[in-house]
Amino acid sequence: MYTKDDFQRAANTILDRLTLQPQIGMVLGSGLGKLADELSARTIIPYAEIPGWSASTVHGHQGNLVIGELEEQVVAVMQGRAHFYEGYSMQQVTFPIRVMKAMGMHTVILTNAAGGINKDYAVGDLMLLEDHINLPGMVGANPLMGANDESLGLRFLGLAQAYDRPLREQALQVAAQHDIPLHSGVYCSLSGPAFETPAEIRMLRAWGADAVGMSTTHEVLVARHAGMRVLAFSGITNCAIDQVDTDLETNHEEVLESGEIIVPRLTTVLKGVLNDFPT
Ligand code: HPA
Repeated sequence: MYTKDDFQRAANTILDRLTLQPQIGMVLGSGLGKLADELSARTIIPYAEIPGWSASTVHGHQGNLVIGELEEQVVAVMQGRAHFYEGYSMQQVTFPIRVMKAMGMHTVILTNAAGGINKDYAVGDLMLLEDHINLPGMVGANPLMGANDESLGLRFLGLAQAYDRPLREQALQVAAQHDIPLHSGVYCSLSGPAFETPAEIRMLRAWGADAVGMSTTHEVLVARHAGMRVLAFSGITNCAIDQVDTDLETNHEEVLESGEIIVPRLTTVLKGVLNDFPT
């Protein structure tokens, strides 16, 4: 278990290298790291230089914290994240969110690559998370388990309002202005690393999930526990396969390739939200 001192030590290591105070944290998922190129006045800090911060071993996750300005907001952008399936604990994979809070940030914007379960979703579409199903969390792989430090947050956290409504409304408005397909839906997280079987996809669809991935929900829990505002997007990188005996198979390459379509769309929506950030 990490303590408040661990979060503060990492936060101070980062802040010591900055002249600007970041207000908004961002996490860029698989194939989405290029978005950090949009920042100006950049400081790039490799994860390995931040005490306690775990690096991702996955292709498509660069492993840098990039701090800079985007639409006149100072943001700290994670190019890639560590995952539970890499063997890290839930405490390790959510450490960066705690550090963002210790650095004084009020909001976190999370992104991920996800498989589309909803039959109306196409590859390259974006989905705004309006709710989630946290399967690992429901069966005990939950970052809020263990002794609760009351100075960090509540023992029993409510999650009915996890995804900030004014931020979502702003994102929908920007997407509509630019003709960008942005759905609102339910994201289901699984531990991975294998993709789902067709039977699992049909089960998730029956449960009300619109997209499926291997991250994000535990970060949402920790951010909300810390009292941060949360906005989260899935980039639909592939259509989840719901039948056996087809020639189709999901693979990581297609996930990374569709990032190419998704990054420009996500960039436009994020810039629009930052440009007129709802209070
Ligand atoms: N399943 C789980 N995680 C994913 C997928 C998927 O189909 N696509 C991208 N991340």
